[in-house]
Amino acid sequence: MTEAVTERLLPETGGIAAAARLLRAGALVAIPTETVYGLAADATNGRAVAQIFAAKGRPTFNPLICHVEDVAQAETLAHFSPMAQALAAAFWPGPLTLVLPRRDESGLSDLISAGLPSVALRAPAHPVARALIAELGRPVAAPSANPSGRISPTTAAHVLDGLSGRIAAVLDAGSCEVGVESTIVGLTDDTPRLLRPGGISAEALADVLGRPLAAPEGGAITAPGMMTSHYAPAALMRLNAKEPRPDEVRLGFGPGPADLNLSANGDLAEAAANLFAHLHALDAQGAHTIAVAPIPEHGLGAAINDRLRRAAAPRD
Ligand code: TXA
Ligand code: MG
Repeated sequence: MTEAVTERLLPETGGIAAAARLLRAGALVAIPTETVYGLAADATNGRAVAQIFAAKGRPTFNPLICHVEDVAQAETLAHFSPMAQALAAAFWPGPLTLVLPRRDESGLSDLISAGLPSVALRAPAHPVARALIAELGRPVAAPSANPSGRISPTTAAHVLDGLSGRIAAVLDAGSCEVGVESTIVGLTDDTPRLLRPGGISAEALADVLGRPLAAPEGGAITAPGMMTSHYAPAALMRLNAKEPRPDEVRLGFGPGPADLNLSANGDLAEAAANLFAHLHALDAQGAHTIAVAPIPEHGLGAAINDRLRRAAAPRD
């Protein structure tokens, strides 16, 4: 990896055009999306895409999400079934990723699919991400912009904590609004499957499809990013903690004392938006254990609890 300094670009001072130039030249740029910051590369440039794995220290070539401007661009990359069209019409642009059969003539780097016949596509809602993809005129490969296995970044400062010196630039547009990654739905056959809970609730997806989503095939998680220990802070985690113990810091939800509160009035959208930033902040205090208040399992709570369980999972 290069020792070069990572540049901080601002959208209001030509940063979008500068980021597009860097991407066109094959460099890596961290970009804001409404969910978390993504580590972007030109999705048609195999050398650039390969550098994503090196910069993140990803042990294997997990498949990546490819970010598009709209459905029209997405349809040049993958085959859309009527179910895929319905979900895209309802939730794009937004925090929903569709895993679809990839077109032979997509022009995408093969690394994006890690050898699978499918590709994961998402049209992000963040205006800066949209402007960048439009300016580049090409799809953008982007996993979350954190070193492999660590907490996802919801600010440019989080990105620089983990990847400074390893990427050309970060396009800084402040905090991410949703705060947890996109929901991933598998649509490679007739059965829609929930591969990862995220920013769009399973209930909202079922409303549009008129049926609940199935579990991943074989009951196992098929998205490799769903490896058990993921999103790990340095501190240990204790979940569903009604009371903090003396040596713990408290991550609250709802009323009551806490070192940091995801949402004092129990709002799940606010809690999702605060989740990674609060984990980063408590971790930075050097706490031994973070005791997390119980969080309801419905709506965005499913995505929040999924990330918390992974953060709490045993590590090697
Ligand atoms: O909100 C998000 O989704 C963020 C922002 C940056 O868009 N991106 C993100 O990317 O979370 P990443 O790489 O951290 O997670 C992508 C997930 C991984 O679990 C990966 O295995 C899965 O998507 N995935 C990608 N392509 C796939 C495919 N063809 N089949 C099944 N799973 C796939
Ligand atoms: Mg990730």
